[in-house]
Amino acid sequence: MEVIVAKTPADMASAAAREVANVLNAKPNAVLGMATGSTPLGLYQELVRLHKKGELDFSHVTTFNLDEYVGLPITHPQSYHYFMHEHLFRHINIPPQNVHIPSGTTTNYRAFCEWYEQRIKQCGGIDLQILGIGTDGHIGFNEPGSSLTSRTRLKTLARQTIDDNARFFKNRDEVPIYAITMGVGTVLESKEIVLLANGKKKAEAIAAAVEGPVTSMITASALQLHPSTRVYLDEEAASHLKMREYFDWVQEKKPGAPQA
Ligand code: GLP
Repeated sequence: MEVIVAKTPADMASAAAREVANVLNAKPNAVLGMATGSTPLGLYQELVRLHKKGELDFSHVTTFNLDEYVGLPITHPQSYHYFMHEHLFRHINIPPQNVHIPSGTTTNYRAFCEWYEQRIKQCGGIDLQILGIGTDGHIGFNEPGSSLTSRTRLKTLARQTIDDNARFFKNRDEVPIYAITMGVGTVLESKEIVLLANGKKKAEAIAAAVEGPVTSMITASALQLHPSTRVYLDEEAASHLKMREYFDWVQEKKPGAPQA
C-alpha cells in the first residue's frame, strides 16, 4: 500500500483524477470501478472538468459501481443510480450501455449478483477501482464480518452505517437496511485500487485498515493483500497513522527511485 497525504481536498481530488486519466490514456477502453458517498465527489467534479476541457474521453470506457441500496428506485435521490447520474454520467460521454450499477430493485438478487460478477469478467475485469471507506472500515457495503473472499451479494447494513448515512435521508427510518455490494474478493481482483478518505471521522478506520492486522472486522484491511493500492488522505484522515513519517519519506524520495 502506498499512502499519500494531500495538502487540501482539491489536491486529493486532482491526484485521484490523474490516476483515472493515466489509466484512460494507457487504455481508452478501460474498465473503471466507481464508488459513491461524499468522498469521491471532488474526483467526479475534476473528471467532468477534464472531460469538458477535451482532455478525457469516456466513449470507450465501461464502469461498474460497487453497491446500491435495496428497495430504492433509480429515481430516488439517495439511490446510487441517481447519485452517479447526477454527479458524473450525465456530464460525460460514456455510452449508457457501458454503465453498470447493481440493481436495488431486481426480483432475483442471487441471479443478479451472479450476472454482475460474470459481466465484470466478460468486460476483462476492473482496471482501476475507486473506493471510499465507512467509519466501521467497510469498503462498498462489506460490513465488519464480511468474508475477505466474498463476491457480489446482498448484505444487511450495520447500525453504524445506517446512522452515518441517515444524514442524507429525511429521517433514520428511511435508510434502507439491505444493500447489494461487490464482495471484498471482487474488489481485490481489480488491477489497481485507489482508496480515498478525508476528515477526522475516518482517521480510526484508516489507521486500522492501513496499519492494523488483516481482518474481516475492518474489510478495508484486506487491501493490504492487494499488490497495487494507493491510499489518498487529507491531514485529518491521516492523523492516527503511526507510520506517517515513513509514508511521507517514501513520497519525498519517490522521484529518485530507479524507474526500471
Ligand atoms: C457508503 C458506501 C461506501 C462509502 C461510504 C463512505 O457506506 N457504500 O462505498 O465509501 O459510504 O461514505 P462517505 O464518503 O460519504 O463518507
